[in-house]
Amino acid sequence: MLLGVNIDHVATLRNARGGVEPDVLEAARICEQCGASSVTTHLREDRRHIKDVDVEMIMREIKTDLNLEMAVTAEMGKIALRIKPHSVCLVPEKRQEVTTEGGLDVAGQLEKITKFVKPLKDAGILVSLFIDPSEEQVKASAQTGAQFIELHTGCYSNAFGNEDEEVEFTKLKNAAKLAQSLGLRVNAGHGLNYENVHRMHEIEGLYELNIGHSIISRAVFVGLEKAVVEMKELIK
Ligand code: PXP
Repeated sequence: MLLGVNIDHVATLRNARGGVEPDVLEAARICEQCGASSVTTHLREDRRHIKDVDVEMIMREIKTDLNLEMAVTAEMGKIALRIKPHSVCLVPEKRQEVTTEGGLDVAGQLEKITKFVKPLKDAGILVSLFIDPSEEQVKASAQTGAQFIELHTGCYSNAFGNEDEEVEFTKLKNAAKLAQSLGLRVNAGHGLNYENVHRMHEIEGLYELNIGHSIISRAVFVGLEKAVVEMKELIK
């Protein structure tokens, strides 16, 4: 399994004072040096953490793949086509949410999402859909032409260590299997941390894990380099 590191929270901290520290580009560089397979930035509609200039600089300065997380909007579609990141991950977005709360409803917006995916793919960008681990969403995702899905691991992460863990884990396992049988490559992420991540090894063929909050939190105490290396050790 590969590790993609989400560095949005470095930008959150920077924006708290409105200056340039901590430097988001430096964070991307450290992730790259520590062997992250990709760096993820979520350019939200309200620009609450990552800003357009961050995405542009990372794209220009970093060789590691840039995964641009974004909502399915005309504005974001244009930005992606201009910047041409290695991949985009399409997510639902609500203004008031603290973080991405649920998966994208691909089944309920099949036509809209299929239309959105095509120009991105035509431009050579890999497209991933961030979905809940349900049969309905996996099957719909396969119809859009997207090459990847990212399974939302939030419910599993919340249930880790309690009675619902097995149920939530089984949903992920079954969804991954179904997706792979339909020709999709499967990533996973949200809420994964140094304790709950080990069960991802039980899901065959997972391609990449996208992890942000736990790595940046650990970096506060041990530094970003060590935090990334430790997570890489756990998932390799
Ligand atoms: N994947 C997606 C699509 C996300 O929206 C997020 C959160 O921004 C993550 C992964 C990373 O989640 P976390 O910060 O909980 O590790």
